[in-house]
Amino acid sequence: MPRTLFDAPYYQKFYADDPVHTAEKIHQIANAVDSLCAWWDLPVRTVLDIGAGPGLWRDWYRAHRPDVTVQSIDISEHACNAFGHQQKDITTWHPKKSVDLVICHSVLQYLSNAGVAAAIENISVACHGVLYIEAPTAADLKNVVDPLATDLNIYRRTGAWYRKLLSANFQQIGAGLWLSRRTGLPLYELERAGK
Ligand SMILES: C[S@@+](CC[C@H](N)C(=O)[O-])C[C@H]1O[C@@H](n2cnc3c(N)ncnc32)[C@H](O)[C@@H]1O
Repeated sequence: MPRTLFDAPYYQKFYADDPVHTAEKIHQIANAVDSLCAWWDLPVRTVLDIGAGPGLWRDWYRAHRPDVTVQSIDISEHACNAFGHQQKDITTWHPKKSVDLVICHSVLQYLSNAGVAAAIENISVACHGVLYIEAPTAADLKNVVDPLATDLNIYRRTGAWYRKLLSANFQQIGAGLWLSRRTGLPLYELERAGK
């Protein structure tokens, strides 16, 4: 599979005129995730946004939760310079201190199998609370994803493949949310997706 160059033309194509994620859409999901953490009495004081791209999650937290410390990272030199992130590769890096909420929105589909396994290891170290993940699976690409609006230069893997890696350290809640097993939070049976 050819490697995607996360350079200026990439962000121009997917984030300029008709962005894959608008600020309004990220407002909706960020608001929902933050509110669910409050519902579960899981404090959100520290956030790590992995592969932050245009930085819309960081912007939401700055605007709506100015007391929250947000670290945004990206592998792309262009994204780091243009949008103000730290340049880090999640396959080889995790923060020194774990955080309450980790966002990994539309990133894992760009990594090789070994890259995803390494990234999920680092995410597990990084997250002691809630993880929000979105990555299209092979079934999504067949049935859900709009091929004109989405970058298709990505890896196609099953949901089961991702679930197996994530389940070692996280419990699936649903809607992209995963609970670190470190929280010890007893969710109601019908509140969560898996065991
Ligand atoms: C599709 S964009 C998603 C941007 C943003 N999270 C969003 O949802 O709009 C994927 C981003 O992941 C970044 N990325 C890819 N591989 C990465 C890695 N190994 N570590 C950190 N960031 C990575 C890319 O540079 C790019 O900015």
